[in-house]
Amino acid sequence: MIIIKTPEQIKKMKIAGEILADCHKEIASIIKPGITTEEINAFAETYILKRGAIPEQKGYHGYPFATCASVNDVICHGFPNKVPLKNGDIVTIDMVVNLDGWLADSAWSYAVGTISNEAKKLLEITEAALYKGIEQAVIGNRVGDISHAIQTFAEEQGFSVVRDFVGHAIGSNMHEDPQIPHFGPPNVGKRLKEGMVITIEPMLNIGMYHAKIDLDGWTARTVDGSLSAQYEHTLAITANGPEILTKQ
Ligand code: CO
Repeated sequence: MIIIKTPEQIKKMKIAGEILADCHKEIASIIKPGITTEEINAFAETYILKRGAIPEQKGYHGYPFATCASVNDVICHGFPNKVPLKNGDIVTIDMVVNLDGWLADSAWSYAVGTISNEAKKLLEITEAALYKGIEQAVIGNRVGDISHAIQTFAEEQGFSVVRDFVGHAIGSNMHEDPQIPHFGPPNVGKRLKEGMVITIEPMLNIGMYHAKIDLDGWTARTVDGSLSAQYEHTLAITANGPEILTKQ
């Protein structure tokens, strides 16, 4: 069931989104070689709590941390750990902020120090693919129009799109209907309506799109060890077009 949000509810999600965006900006300023993802996680958790909000991922289906920290070949849902980040790594930090019961969700990939040209292009194209999807998030379009725009662009640029993890509607629950795949044909799926709030969160790989899960039951990696990046915004479908609620 699709839950349409009122303008007042969207306003609340936007405030959660501002806290989340501010947290990403702070993270961008502290990421450098030598920092650990455990330290980034602790920073984010403290920051969110200080702003009067709750890190929604902690405890969600047993997930143990406030953030997901996905380094290099990790696609998503990586556990923060004590391994210092190295010059040339890429890392995706994903988090969900809950402010007074209303949620916002945003993931961002970061370069650690100086990265290869190939990694740089992966980050650039993955972020651009997110905006290709957002452009399609207009009233009257279908979910598949978002999916198709992202896949077409990503594959034209020589990258693959992860199939096993998708975007989703969001509100007072992290995951609501419908799902938003980042691949597939246009002109299929649910029609987009004013008041829907969704995430678009493409994960692009340099190599094959396939994922495997570590023994921890969460960490998803590329099967071929190639690099993976992800950018995610939460956005509302409005009469004036898509409104990004997690804009940095
Ligand atoms: Co999400």
